[in-house]
Amino acid sequence: MRPVIYIPADSGAMALGAGRVARAFEEELFRRGLDVKIVRNGSRGLYFLEPMVEVETASGRFAYGPVRARDVAELLDAGLLDGAGGHPLFLGETEKIPFLARQTRLTFARCGVIDPLSLDAYRAHGGLAGLEKAVAMAPADIVKTVTDSGLRGRGGAGFPTGIKWKTVQDAVADRKYIVCNADEGDSATFADRMIMEGDPFVLIEGMAIAALATGAQKGFVYIRSEYPHAVAVMREAVRVATSAGILGPSVLGSGHGFDIEIRVGAGAYVCGEETSLLNSLEGKRGVVRAKPPLPALEGLFGKPTVVNNVISLASVPVVLDRGASFYKDFGLGRSRGTIPIQIAGNVRRGGLFEVAFGLSLGEIVEEIGGGTASGRPVKAVQVGGPLGAYFPPALFDTPFDYEAFAAKDGLIGHAGITVFDDTVDMMAMARFAFSFCAVESCGKCTPCRIGSVRGAETLDKVAAGIAHADNLALVTELCETMKFGSLCALGGFTPYPVMSAITHFPEDFAPRPMAQAAE
Ligand SMILES: Cc1cc2nc3c(=O)[nH]c(=O)nc-3n(C[C@H](O)[C@H](O)[C@H](O)COP(=O)(O)O)c2cc1C
Ligand code: SF4
Repeated sequence: MRPVIYIPADSGAMALGAGRVARAFEEELFRRGLDVKIVRNGSRGLYFLEPMVEVETASGRFAYGPVRARDVAELLDAGLLDGAGGHPLFLGETEKIPFLARQTRLTFARCGVIDPLSLDAYRAHGGLAGLEKAVAMAPADIVKTVTDSGLRGRGGAGFPTGIKWKTVQDAVADRKYIVCNADEGDSATFADRMIMEGDPFVLIEGMAIAALATGAQKGFVYIRSEYPHAVAVMREAVRVATSAGILGPSVLGSGHGFDIEIRVGAGAYVCGEETSLLNSLEGKRGVVRAKPPLPALEGLFGKPTVVNNVISLASVPVVLDRGASFYKDFGLGRSRGTIPIQIAGNVRRGGLFEVAFGLSLGEIVEEIGGGTASGRPVKAVQVGGPLGAYFPPALFDTPFDYEAFAAKDGLIGHAGITVFDDTVDMMAMARFAFSFCAVESCGKCTPCRIGSVRGAETLDKVAAGIAHADNLALVTELCETMKFGSLCALGGFTPYPVMSAITHFPEDFAPRPMAQAAE
C-alpha cells in the first residue's frame, strides 16, 4: 500500500506552520526517492497539536504533532511512514487521542479526515446520502424531519430550524432564497471556517436540502472577508458540485434547480445579524432592519428567505441521512443533537470539541480544555462571543444547554468560549463590551448608539472613583435600557457581559486607590 500523509491546509494550521511542514515533507520525500501521496486535509480541530500530521498505514491512521519543518527528516528516520511510535511527537492512533475520542462527531464527521475538495472522498465517507434521501421525499416531509430532529439554529438565537423552513415553504412567491450566514464574528469561534475549509460539500448539501424543502432556487453564502481561504475553498467546491450535477438546473436529477453564489462581506460584526446581512447582500449599508416583516416572509430582495448559520445547514445532511430520532437522541431538554464547542483564550487545549449538549461548563474548561495555558487559576469564562456573559468557577456546574445558560443570565450563542486566568481585570472587560458595541453599532437605535458610548464613559468614572456608587448604579440602569430598548441583540445583549462582570466579580469594580489619588 502506497503510504498517504495528511497535512492540514486549514488556515489555523497554516498559521502554525502547516505550509512549511508540507514543503519540508515534499522536499525530504523527493530527496529520499520515496513514493508517498500527500493529501492536504482540513483540521480535526485539535489546534493545540497543530500542525498535526497523519499517516495512513495498513494498520490504521496515526498522528504526530505539533510538527515543525525541522522535525520532518527525524520523523521519517523514526518510521513515520509505518506509523511507528517512539518519537516524542508520536500521538498514537488519531481516533484514540483523548480530545478526539471523547467527541461525538456528526456535523464534523469528515472534517480533517478527507481531502476537502474530493467529491469521491466525500461520497466514500457518507456524503450525499442525506440529499439523496431528500430528493425522494416530499418537501413537507423534509421539513418535518428537520423539525422532529430538534435542530435549533447554531448562529446564536437557537431558533428551531424546521419552523423557519416551514414558514418559507408555506410562503407563496415567485422566488425564494437560502442564505448561509458565514460571517462568524464572535470571539473564540471558528467552527464555520473549519467546515468551509475542511468539508465544504456538507454545507452545499445542507443548502441543497433546504432548497428542496422550501422551493428556493438560489443560495448565497455570505463569508467574512477575514476568511480568504474559506472563500477560495467554497468557490471551488461550488464549481465542482455544479459540474457534478449536485447544483444547477436539476439537483441530483430531482428536476429542481438550485445555484449557489459565494459573497464576501466587508467586515462589520453587525453584518452577521441576519437583516443587516441581507441589506449588505443587496449592496446596501449593513444596517439592521426592523422586524416584522420576518426574513422568512420578506427577506432578500423582499422574497421569502431562509437565513441559517453554517453549522445549522451543515448539520442537516446527517439528520436526513440518519433520521430525526437518531439526531434527537443526543442532547438534553430542548437542546438536541450535538454542538461544536470552540475552546479558546488562555487555555491549555484550545480547539473544537463536538459533543452532545449537556456537558457541564466545568468539564469543558477543566477536563477538555485542561485549564489555563498560564497554569494560573481560571477566573472567568466568557461564553457566546462578545455579547455573552462571564461565568465564574462557582457556576461551572451549568450544563451546556440553551435554557440552562439563559437561566443563569447567559447564552450559548455560537458556542465559542474564552477562558481567562486570575490576572484578568473584569472592569476592563466590562468597559471593552461597551466600547465594542460602540464601534460595531449600526447606529439605527439610540440605546445602542449612544448608550454604549455613555456606558464606557461611566465605567471610566467608576474606575476613577468619581461618585462611585452612583455611577455603578447608573451603569446598571443603562444596561436595563439597552437590554429592553435596543432594536437588535448587539445593543440588547451588550448588558450581559457588563452585568455578569459586575455581579460575579464586584471586587474588580471597587474604587481604585491610584485613580482616587488622581481625582
Ligand atoms: C450583532 C449580531 C451578530 C450576529 N452574527 C452572526 C454570525 O456571525 N453568524 C450567524 O450565523 N449568526 C449571527 N447572528 C445571528 C443571526 O442574526 C441569525 O439569528 C442567524 O444567522 C440565524 O441562523 P440560525 O437560525 O441557523 O442560527 C448575529 C446576530 C446579531 C444580533
Ligand atoms: S441595537 Fe445597535 S446594532 Fe442593533 S439596530 Fe440598534 S443601533 Fe443597530
